[in-house]
Amino acid sequence: MISFVRATIGATLVLALLAGCERTHVQQIGYRGTGMNTNYSPATLAAQEAVNKQPKPLRTVSPDGPTAGEEYQNVQVLGDLSKAEFARMMISIKNWVAPDIGCDFCHAAPDYASDAKYTKVMARAMLKMTRHINSDWKTHVKATGVTCYTCHRGKPVPPKVWFSIPQIPAGMMVRKSFERLPTPSAAKTTLNDPLTNFLLHDDPIRVVGLTALPTGPHKSIGDTRMTNSLMILMSESLGVNCNYCHNSRAFYKWDESVPPRATAWYGIRMVRDLNNSVLVPLSGILPKSRMGPGGDGPKVYCATCHLGTFKPFAGVSQIAAFPALVGTKAEVAAQAAAAAAAASANTPAAASPAPAAAPAAPTVVSTATQVSAKP
Ligand code: HEC
Ligand code: HEC
Ligand code: HEC
Ligand code: HEC
Repeated sequence: MISFVRATIGATLVLALLAGCERTHVQQIGYRGTGMNTNYSPATLAAQEAVNKQPKPLRTVSPDGPTAGEEYQNVQVLGDLSKAEFARMMISIKNWVAPDIGCDFCHAAPDYASDAKYTKVMARAMLKMTRHINSDWKTHVKATGVTCYTCHRGKPVPPKVWFSIPQIPAGMMVRKSFERLPTPSAAKTTLNDPLTNFLLHDDPIRVVGLTALPTGPHKSIGDTRMTNSLMILMSESLGVNCNYCHNSRAFYKWDESVPPRATAWYGIRMVRDLNNSVLVPLSGILPKSRMGPGGDGPKVYCATCHLGTFKPFAGVSQIAAFPALVGTKAEVAAQAAAAAAAASANTPAAASPAPAAAPAAPTVVSTATQVSAKP
């Protein structure tokens, strides 16, 4: 009797534990037999779908009539839009960034030309930054591109930003620094601050020794843990596992990696560029309440746009309905002409030249031999 009760309790426990396991779908993303699979759980996919819902773009309006530059007093970026296009853009910006507050979030009404509010100065710089991302970082954002909503999601402060962790004096409790990294699992691997080292500074993300004996430049266990922490953070930002980019038998090898790794490589450079050339300089105009514990301003990383999904908005173009977020009308026309010329010459690479700062693109296995990674 006792053994029967024990067996029943045992079986119930096993069932209870199994019920806690999630069913996953496995998708092959590399050559057969290389173990390159990505696991998706239905719950994660459902969550990704919710994050990828985009607001319906306002309907397009007439490009004719006097321009905003002619009509208004202080329009420095969007001057070549028609008055109607300009109004459509203002309403969209309000919906993307401050729907609960409205036009007053940036404007000292009734004087719309005034730059008295820091938010308006910030928004103008953000317009330029968004154009920079969509024109100069096509190597990463491709034709999907970004709008203000990609980062802001209807909030003045994007839901995912990061701050540097203030240096902890030796011998102090380090628990607090753990808690300040954007995800707890990324924090588990290092006491240091991988975001500052890799996404603000350009410390090399290279830890694998390629010789049997340690003959080359020395890499410490600390360096390895920092790299691992960044990689976990990247994986969590995209909702994928390491195999989404690497073949885990040789993490360092580009010719065994899949194409998303090259996109990620550009993504790292883009994030460094945005933080150094836009967000750090701009943080000077932010109020103290926006600053982090070390007195630095908010910065972007992979999750700022991705929010746990491997392609923001599942790759639906965000800029098709908003060409003004790519450049002036003349710049957009020139980009389209260059892309068309490149397409007819059958050299698509020319349509998206590597940014000047980027070294030669890493080569990866050609897409043609890969099974699509989309579930
Ligand atoms: C997130 C900030 C933000 C919000 C919200 C916003 N605007 Fe603007 N607005 C700007 C910026 C930035 C400019 C300047 C654009 C430029 O320099 O190209 C501007 C310029 C203007 C101008 C031109 C004023 C002049 O004479 O120079 C008008 C008019 C205007 N906005 C109306 C609106 C209205 C109406 C709303 C609400 C539907 C609105 N804005 C919401 C940021 C904002
Ligand atoms: C790549 C991500 C990204 C994009 C795209 C982006 N922003 Fe931002 N924005 C940020 C970050 C990060 C901050 C700093 C947050 C803060 O101010 O605390 C910020 C701050 C702002 C602020 C100041 C908010 C405040 O209350 O402090 C305004 C206004 C703003 N953005 C407007 C815009 C507009 C308008 C666009 C589109 C033209 C845009 N942003 C596109 C990331 C982005
Ligand atoms: C979204 C793509 C992506 C994911 C997911 C990813 N990585 Fe990486 N990984 C990269 C890129 C890109 C580099 C090269 C970075 C550079 O050189 O700037 C890299 C570099 C590395 C390196 C250094 C290789 C060397 O040359 O020394 C290691 C080790 C590594 N990753 C391990 C991991 C682990 C472990 C995971 C899972 C926790 C992971 N990666 C997830 C893209 C990814
Ligand atoms: C400014 C917004 C933004 C930021 C920041 C950003 N990404 Fe992306 N990323 C995008 C967009 C948009 C796409 C979709 C491009 C496309 O259509 O293929 C994308 C695509 C990707 C892809 C390709 C996915 C696939 O299946 O082809 C990878 C991998 C990726 N990003 C990794 C990263 C990593 C790693 C970081 C941080 C170092 C990062 N991204 C930061 C906007 C961003």
